[in-house]
Amino acid sequence: MFCNIYTLALALLGFVVLLNFLYINFWGLLQLAHSILAPYFIAHEENTTLAKKYGSWALITGSTDGIGKAYATELAKRGINLILVSRNKEKLENTAREIESKYSVKTKIITADFSQGVKAIDIIKNELGSIEIGILVNNVGKQYEYPMYLEEVPEEDLWDIVNINVGAVTMMCRAFIKDMKKRGRGAIVNVSSGSELQPLPFMTVYAATKAYIKSFTTSLRYEYGEYGLTIQHLSPFFVNTKMNRFCERFQKTTYIVPDAEMYARYAVSTLGKQDKSTGYWCHGVQYFLAEIAPEWLRMHIGGQMNKFLRNEYLNKIKSS
Ligand SMILES: NC(=O)c1ccc[n+]([C@@H]2O[C@H](COP(=O)([O-])OP(=O)(O)OC[C@H]3O[C@@H](n4cnc5c(N)ncnc54)[C@H](OP(=O)(O)O)[C@@H]3O)[C@@H](O)[C@H]2O)c1
Repeated sequence: MFCNIYTLALALLGFVVLLNFLYINFWGLLQLAHSILAPYFIAHEENTTLAKKYGSWALITGSTDGIGKAYATELAKRGINLILVSRNKEKLENTAREIESKYSVKTKIITADFSQGVKAIDIIKNELGSIEIGILVNNVGKQYEYPMYLEEVPEEDLWDIVNINVGAVTMMCRAFIKDMKKRGRGAIVNVSSGSELQPLPFMTVYAATKAYIKSFTTSLRYEYGEYGLTIQHLSPFFVNTKMNRFCERFQKTTYIVPDAEMYARYAVSTLGKQDKSTGYWCHGVQYFLAEIAPEWLRMHIGGQMNKFLRNEYLNKIKSS
């Protein structure tokens, strides 16, 4: 009899724990399923849907390389005209030419350096004239050269990381959201990172800026949700771009580390469908699994991984 009650109590406890787990992770599971299936459900009319829904021009920051360039190309594939913004005029011209040769869209390039603060925003606003931005993709971001202790990161780099990852995203949103609100349509995509999930030793400041983007974007969505705007935050894990050049392992394309083109193909298909997403199915799996572990454990694993990558990088430098 005692044994039966004991067993029943344990079963009940297990059931409650399971319910709690499912409740907490249900949304994550839905997101995961969606990020895996989304690209297979792109209807033909999607080519015109984004333009109809948000407007015919998109502005993408950091669009001459990596995720920004691939994201811009995906938008062009869907008939969206592009404003490409980066620091290097020649790279911008080449990117614009490359995209226009493949897709019948208009492009305009703007040379601006987001480490310059509000000056960059003024340049962009002046250059745009009367062009209405329907989709704003705040993609530009700066990372450490390799995993470092805070004292080792050059002062200028630290300042730029905060200015670019936090300042530029905030001010770009402020610069365009008022017009979107007036028009009652528009989309803002803020590119964060899987490092938003928990503090990340040896990439401490970078991860902190991405936690800011997550908090900022979530809050902004609440503020402007009632005006019909889409405000999405994207949290990629590792993507094979020059940002990760410190690690050879991340310079090889795999399912876990996709190239920017593969990543963007998935990420753009979540626009207007998911408010927050990793943007790519395999990163959805990683995010889901990571969230199950407690924050201290995730931080510890991340810290140890970065320590390993740091030593690997420093040994490589020493021996070359
Ligand atoms: N790659 C990853 O594994 C990964 C993972 C998670 C999140 N992310 C995030 O994804 C975003 C894109 O990363 P990515 O890997 O594609 O980067 P990337 O390959 O290094 O490309 C960065 C782009 O930004 C431009 N840029 C850099 N500094 C700039 C500045 N001060 N002003 C204006 N433009 C600038 C670069 O062009 P110019 O140098 O010609 O100006 C380039 O077009 C970032 O926000 C990053 O944090 C990346």
